[in-house]
Amino acid sequence: MNELAWGTNNDLNDNQFYNRVEDIRFISDLLKSSKYGTSPSILITGIRGVGKSALMKKVQKKFRDENFLVVYIDLSSSDAYQKDEFSKEALIELIYDEIIKECKEFGITTVDKKIEKYIKTHDVTLKEIVNIKGYPVPFLWTKKNYKKLANFVMELPQYLYEEYADNINGVFLFFDEFQIIKELGDDLTDFLWYMRSFIQKQNNVSYVFSGSMSVKDSLIEEIAGSNGAFGGRILTIEIKPFSHETTKNYLNDKANYLKFTDAGFDQFYECTKGIPFYINVFGNLLPRNISLDALSVKENFIKVLPILAMHFSNSWFRLNLQEQKILTALLDDSLNRSGIAKKLNVTSGAIGRSLNRLLDIGLIEMENNIYYMPNFVFKAWLKNEYKMKGVYPYKSI
Ligand SMILES: Nc1ncnc2c1ncn2[C@@H]1O[C@H](COP(=O)(O)OP(=O)(O)O)[C@@H](O)[C@H]1O
Ligand SMILES: [Mg+2]
Repeated sequence: MNELAWGTNNDLNDNQFYNRVEDIRFISDLLKSSKYGTSPSILITGIRGVGKSALMKKVQKKFRDENFLVVYIDLSSSDAYQKDEFSKEALIELIYDEIIKECKEFGITTVDKKIEKYIKTHDVTLKEIVNIKGYPVPFLWTKKNYKKLANFVMELPQYLYEEYADNINGVFLFFDEFQIIKELGDDLTDFLWYMRSFIQKQNNVSYVFSGSMSVKDSLIEEIAGSNGAFGGRILTIEIKPFSHETTKNYLNDKANYLKFTDAGFDQFYECTKGIPFYINVFGNLLPRNISLDALSVKENFIKVLPILAMHFSNSWFRLNLQEQKILTALLDDSLNRSGIAKKLNVTSGAIGRSLNRLLDIGLIEMENNIYYMPNFVFKAWLKNEYKMKGVYPYKSI
């Protein structure tokens, strides 16, 4: 039976993965050219939940089947990020670990011996050699000589291609949740240019960057802008929500137990805005095989808001009081900086830091000096909390 995927699962099987035919074709055609020695870089943008990771995993599977080595590097999976200690050392280590993992997946079983030799010639120190399923996997010592180690890891993909040219049609590095790289702070620009210096020399390795970044995110300018590290050398593709019609066909196909009236479906689309994450989570929680009109869709939407807004409420509870107050100030109006300060009864200078932090984590955006909250589910959740409890869930002081 056809079912909607769970909202937390982005490794969808063929039955769960819907549409995106054009996006897959476009990305695939670009990537295929790496076989002939030109390697494009791609930046995949789009709002959270639109299906970027699911798409990358799909493309990864497709190319794995065609003997490409596709390394998937999710920055949020780094231990250091989880512990709030993200650094360039941690990133390099993560890239290395994922390359080794993918080599295993690919079935390159002699990689360790060759890599060991390669490590020796690069004069990098090993942390330890761990035995995984009978293969000795070298774990790198990062702190000792970061530069050498980083050079080694960044050259490794092209090296693998050359060493295994008979087996490997090309090497791709997919970076997901790439916006986390902003946590490098002062090191960010240098690091991007450093990456670019390698990417440029590698003829058979392609890089795909993705993350939940709005088109206004300053990182996009740093990467793809005319003065950015990859400016003019990277193609940006924006993944769009499902259209009204695609959403309708999708639900007919995968969830025909949802019996919307016409107005009920319009309300469903209005609530989810065609974003697959919201479609799937909401669709999985709606009652089945009963008629759903606009009102019952609306009532159910309010009931499931805490689940739909989980990511945002988690972020909310990690903010400080001033950051939270800025958000509630922006719930009903978009405001400039002094407008926000006025609402908070503080000087404009006193909120600079909070504004930057909120921009960095994507909870607010700014255009023409006007700040606003871009996510409608986050807004609806906060408003509903207020409606139910009479207060916003501020950090208690
Ligand atoms: N092509 C698709 N078909 C069906 N469901 C999808 C598709 N893409 C995404 N989804 C659903 O949306 C959820 C969020 O997708 P994800 O790729 O994690 O979004 P993003 O990486 O853009 O934040 C997935 O867990 C899945 O349930
Ligand atoms: Mg994702």
